[in-house]
Amino acid sequence: MHDITVALYLITVLLFIAGLKLLTSPRTARMGNLVSAVGMTIAIVATFLGYWSELSNWTYILIGGILGSVVGAFLAYWVDMRDIPQFVAILNSFGGAVSALVGAWAIFNMDKVKPAFASTGLFVGSVVADAFIGTIAFVGSVIAFAKLQKLITERPVVLPMKNLLNVIALILVFVFGYLLIQNPHNYLYLYAIFALAAFLGFNVTMAVGGADMPVVISLLISYAGLSAAALGFTFMNYGLIMVGSLVGASGLILTRIMAKAMNRDFWGILLGNITPPEMATTSSDAAFYEGKVKSTSPDEVAMMLKYADRIVIIPGYGLAVAQAQRELKELYDLLTKDGKEVYFAIHDVAGRMPGHMNVLLAEVEVPYEALKTMDEGNQLLEGADVALVVGANDVVNPLAKEDPSTPIYGMPILEADKARSVVVIKRSLSPGFAGIPNPLFIRDNTVMLFDDAKKALRAIIDAYKEL
Ligand code: TAP
Repeated sequence: MHDITVALYLITVLLFIAGLKLLTSPRTARMGNLVSAVGMTIAIVATFLGYWSELSNWTYILIGGILGSVVGAFLAYWVDMRDIPQFVAILNSFGGAVSALVGAWAIFNMDKVKPAFASTGLFVGSVVADAFIGTIAFVGSVIAFAKLQKLITERPVVLPMKNLLNVIALILVFVFGYLLIQNPHNYLYLYAIFALAAFLGFNVTMAVGGADMPVVISLLISYAGLSAAALGFTFMNYGLIMVGSLVGASGLILTRIMAKAMNRDFWGILLGNITPPEMATTSSDAAFYEGKVKSTSPDEVAMMLKYADRIVIIPGYGLAVAQAQRELKELYDLLTKDGKEVYFAIHDVAGRMPGHMNVLLAEVEVPYEALKTMDEGNQLLEGADVALVVGANDVVNPLAKEDPSTPIYGMPILEADKARSVVVIKRSLSPGFAGIPNPLFIRDNTVMLFDDAKKALRAIIDAYKEL
């Protein structure tokens, strides 16, 4: 490989690291995307430069490049914001498939592509790693896509003796991997590894419910990154090794953050054991709330807001369902114009995908200064006049601190009840994702506005304007 290619790969990696850093804040995220895209372009140019003399069939390269660009641009423009998790899943499946297929091609053409200095064991071992991990990422991501797109059941499908089957499959992969290293021209071993990896990807992902899929997808992204890094070893391509490792590590970090925020066992997720929360029954919920809930009206809420100085808005999944972000921004504008301090406290796992609330609020151009993290939000809630909970439930559920028997016990929450008054907008007393009742709804300082968030916010805005 030319020195210039290696130098360009290094620049790419530096740009990716800078891009990741910029993506950590909504204010700089757009720039982060741009910087990473420049890095990717440099990587493509570097690859062409590095392998120029070996490239022969330009027709295929051009057709593939144009087709990929058109499909990518089309999807990026037309996919609805709510469909982003499945969009990410299907894109990730392409990454896994490419690693697996190119790995297989490398074995079929071993005599031509094996770098002279690499031992056969290292070369075949790296192919086994990228074929195995890439296939898991491919099959797992396709199933995640199908579940989120509701093409197959969203419910967990758990095979009998699931964990035992996974362990047996894993041992067999090692056995066939060893046999392939001994006899690289017996492709049956490679096909067996593909089949076992496909089974593992299927078995692990099918066992997870649709709502937990974003955690699995971030893990599968990490796997796709690792398979690309393994492919880098196959071809001794430093760019792939560095970028694959970066994707592998950042996917793992995201999985860890989400596991912590959802109070799931990180190692359990890693081994494909996400335990779905127990569903509470409606009858026990009815008994829990009976006679203790105070409902309110849009007029009353408008009045409370009129007399408030500091308002902390806590958005949740219901905001996305109702698509009420425009109304929320309109209310924000109205309140800030009246000289009030208004903030949005955003829980790490509010909604159903990482950054879900940030995306909705950025879409309607809520100023970045008003977006607060969980810790900042909790500080602001102390001494706030009104906490306005819009379609959120689990992320404000005090049971997470109080009841060790609930599935969300230990999950950090936004402590809405620290505010003088709490207004909760939701349609009914139905539970959130965790399926448990919420004592916040029966606190002395809480009132409930039962309606679709979009309609409720519109009514509050109209009432506020009348005051
Ligand atoms: P949830 O606890 O799921 O509660 C959402 C609430 O929104 C529901 O109780 C529902 O009550 C209400 N709602 C639904 N449609 C509405 C509408 N049109 N108008 C008004 N309200 C509506 O949401 P959350 O507080 O955001 O918590 C997120 C949960 O999802 C957490 O348990 C988290 O662990 C989990 N999760 C998160 C992620 C990520 S990465 N964010 C991924 C997977 C799972 P009604 O039906 O009564 O209206």
